[in-house]
Amino acid sequence: MPMHHMPATPQLDPSTLAPFVDSLPIPPVAKPIGMHPHPEQHGRTLPHYRIVQREVRIKVHRDLPPARMWVYGDSFPGPTLEIESGHGATVDWVNQLPARHFLPIDHTLMGADKSLPEVRSVTHLHGGRTPAKSDGYPEEWITPGQTQSCFYPSNQESALLFYHDHTMGINRLNIYAGMTGFAIVRDAHEASLALPGGPYEIPLLFADRLLGKDGQLVYPVAPDGDNPWVPEVFGNSILVNGKLLPYHEVEPRLYRLRLFNGSNGRFYRIALEGKPTLHVIGNDQGLLAAPVETKRIPLAPAERADVLVDFSDFAGKNVKLVSDSFDLMQFRVGAKASTPSHAIPKTLRDRPLPLDEKTAIRTRRLTLDETLDDIQNSMGMLLNKTPWHAPITEKPVLNTTEIWELVNLTEDSHPIHLHLVRFRVLDRRPLDTYGFQMTGEARFTGPAMPPEPLESGWKDTVRTDPGTITRILVPFEGYAGRYVWHCHILEHEDNEMMRPYEVLPG
Ligand code: C2O
Ligand code: CU
Ligand code: CU
Repeated sequence: MPMHHMPATPQLDPSTLAPFVDSLPIPPVAKPIGMHPHPEQHGRTLPHYRIVQREVRIKVHRDLPPARMWVYGDSFPGPTLEIESGHGATVDWVNQLPARHFLPIDHTLMGADKSLPEVRSVTHLHGGRTPAKSDGYPEEWITPGQTQSCFYPSNQESALLFYHDHTMGINRLNIYAGMTGFAIVRDAHEASLALPGGPYEIPLLFADRLLGKDGQLVYPVAPDGDNPWVPEVFGNSILVNGKLLPYHEVEPRLYRLRLFNGSNGRFYRIALEGKPTLHVIGNDQGLLAAPVETKRIPLAPAERADVLVDFSDFAGKNVKLVSDSFDLMQFRVGAKASTPSHAIPKTLRDRPLPLDEKTAIRTRRLTLDETLDDIQNSMGMLLNKTPWHAPITEKPVLNTTEIWELVNLTEDSHPIHLHLVRFRVLDRRPLDTYGFQMTGEARFTGPAMPPEPLESGWKDTVRTDPGTITRILVPFEGYAGRYVWHCHILEHEDNEMMRPYEVLPG
C-alpha cells in the first residue's frame, strides 16, 4: 500500500468557515441553439445544443477567493440537459480548455515522444442508451479547439442521468476540475404521476474536494513526480452543487430531490437531521415499482436516488442534510406553502419490474483484482486480471440477456458501471475468496443477500463488496458496438480498472 501523500499547498480547515451563508446554486437548464432534423430520427426535428468546456473561476464559499475550475458552460455542475424520452437531442461538446492542465497529469500519457497533447476531453452521457459512436469512447478524445458531436436518441425511461468527461487516463482530473452536469430524461408515464416539479424538484450533486487555504482545488500527488497516481482521493470539503455548506429556502410541502454522487471516490449515506422518513421513488435508471420508505440513502460514486421529502413536518424550522457525521447543506423551511402540496403516489409502475434469471442465455464470471507493483510500491486494480489494451473478451449479442457475476477479490467496495445498458441486481453472495483464488471454485460462506430495497429498480451502477459475488441480470438492448464497463471510483478507472466490451449484432 502506498503511503499517504500530503499535498504541498496548506490545507483549508473548513470548520473555520461560517456554515450556511451561500445559497444553493441550481444549475441553469441548457437552452438549445436550434431545432434540427436528424436522419436517424426519421427526419423529425430535435433540439440541438452547443456546450462549451472552459476554464472559469467559481466561489465555493462566501469567504474564499474564487477557485479555478474546468466546467461545461460556466457553472459547476454544468447546464442541465432536459431530454424528452424517445425524442432525443444532439449536442456539440466544444473543447475550449487551456492548453495545459492545472492539475498534476501523468506525463507518460503524452507518449514516449511527448507527441500527444496534454489537454483532452471526451464527453459521455452516463446512463444514456446511446449509439456507440456518440457514447464518448475513452480513446476518442478531442483537444482544445475541437468539437465532439453527439446524437442521443434517448429511447429509454425517465431517469436522472449525468454527463461527464471520460478521457482515457485523465478523467479523474477533468471531473475533479468540474467537468460534469445533470441530464434528466422525462417521459409521459412519469408526467402522469404528477410529481413535484419546477422549483419543487431539486437536483443535488455531492462532490468532495480537497481545498487549499487559498480556496483552490488541490489534487494530491505521489512523491515521485513520474507516477502521480494516488489510489483514492478524499476531500476535506463536500460541495453540494459546487458550494461548501450551502442553504436552500423551501416551503413546508412535498419536494422531489434528485440525488447524485458525483465524487471521485467517496461513498455517502444521505439523511435528514433527526432521521425523518425519506420516500425513495427511483434509482439510477428510473422509477421503482412503489415508493420505499427509509431514513438513510447509501450512494456509491455515480449512483443516483430520486427522493420525495415532506418539509411540512419542519414548517418554520431549519433542517440539515447530512451524510453520517458530515453536514452537507441546510434547508430553511418557510412557515406557509404558496401552492397546495403534491401527494406521494402509492405505486409508480403499473407492472412489476421483470426479474427472471431464466431469461439469461449466458453467465459470465468476472473478477475485480488488486495487483501490487513491487517496483513502484503502488497498488493497481484490474478487471478480470486483464489490462485495458488487451483484446475484447466480453461480446454479448444484441437483444440477449446475460448474468454477470462480479467477483470482488479486493479489499474495497467498487461501484461497477456498464455503458449502454440497464440491469437488475439479483443478489450478493459472500465468498471464500482464498479458496476461489486457489481452486477457481466458488464456495459460499453464507446465504445470498437480496438487493437492498433502494436497489430494486433498473440500475446502471452497482456496489460490489469485498469478498462477495454480486450478480446482475443484464439485457443488452439498444445498439451493437464497442462500449466500456468499469469501476466508477475514478482513480481506479484511470488506472486500468476499465475494460472495453462489444455488443455483437443479433
Ligand atoms: Cu459515468 Cu463510463 O461512466
Ligand atoms: Cu456510463
Ligand atoms: Cu474501484
